[in-house]
Amino acid sequence: MSIPSRVQIIDVGPRDGLQNEKTPVPAEVKVALVHRLQDAGLQEIEVTSFVSPKWVPQMADNAEVMAGLERKPGVRYSVLTPNLQGYEAAVKTQPDEIVVFGSASEAFSRKNINCSIAESIERFAPVVEAALAAGIRVRGAMSCTVGCPYEGEIAPERVAYLAGLLKGIGVQRVDVADTIGVGTPRKVQRAIDATLEHYGIDAVSGHFHDTYGQALSNTLAALELGVWNFQASVSGLGGCPYAKGAMGNVATEDLVFMLQGMGIETGIDLDKLVDAGAYISDFLGRKPNSRVAVAVLNKRGN
Ligand code: HMG
Ligand code: MG
Repeated sequence: MSIPSRVQIIDVGPRDGLQNEKTPVPAEVKVALVHRLQDAGLQEIEVTSFVSPKWVPQMADNAEVMAGLERKPGVRYSVLTPNLQGYEAAVKTQPDEIVVFGSASEAFSRKNINCSIAESIERFAPVVEAALAAGIRVRGAMSCTVGCPYEGEIAPERVAYLAGLLKGIGVQRVDVADTIGVGTPRKVQRAIDATLEHYGIDAVSGHFHDTYGQALSNTLAALELGVWNFQASVSGLGGCPYAKGAMGNVATEDLVFMLQGMGIETGIDLDKLVDAGAYISDFLGRKPNSRVAVAVLNKRGN
């Protein structure tokens, strides 16, 4: 398998990134961030989630954020929907894609969405059916495909099991997520191989958190298997509220820099991306959590 010559990135910063911020971020700032990302050339953006505002208060403005978007043709805007209630609220805001999110670990499933893996599939099935009937694309996130904060190491067989369940209810493509960033290249490859028992390579996306600094190495390992779709978070924002200590996804700036250096096309303007990251980092009152962004900003002299 040769390394792909083109990679498509889903920026999950507005959702995975901001969901973990304690201070409320106003809807207009979230909208402005999405606009900056699309201007930088991102073709897929995970905007928000339709989850319980009691569980994740930061995402309570989901409909307002979706309504505030000035959509750019060719860009796919996705949102998380854990159940029918979330889907029914989401569909009014016209997402291009909805994301159901399950876990390869039982304990994480319960902590994150308050039900077992089997129950989660029962909840997702009518959501997937309704979305497909409405012409909305469906992605499935698979959490804890390498390790779980509650159960430790996760065997590839459990990833294959979850992928099979998602395939069985009609989910079109899946994210192999390393929720807590404990994966290393060979382990991540095993999780991807397990997913490939049910999905083709074009339907697999890598979602690597960078807690232990392995996300770029894991990305390279996934590229070696032919994966060409990756999720990243601008400025390295984020983490999961139900995975204590987990840090953000690989920073989009770092990912783009690596891919560009390898001659892999992304369609993204790194300078504009750094500006998008600086915008949200300034708002949050901190430096971007991206080595590349900091290096570019230092070189510019600001
Ligand atoms: P539940 O308590 O089991 O739900 O929560 P319920 O059906 O029993 O309803 C209880 C209450 O929640 C009711 O309100 C419902 O109306 C409300 P009350 O009568 O008490 O006032 N409710 C909702 N409200 C808004 N939107 C909804 C919704 N559903 C029920 N969709 C639920 C189940 C899934 C809702 C809850 O557990 C939840 O919201 N969890 C949050 C999950 C989350 O957002 N996690 C972070 C995102 S996942 C992630 O980050 C991982 C990922 O990045 C991949 C990776 O890195 O691993 C994707
Ligand atoms: Mg995540």
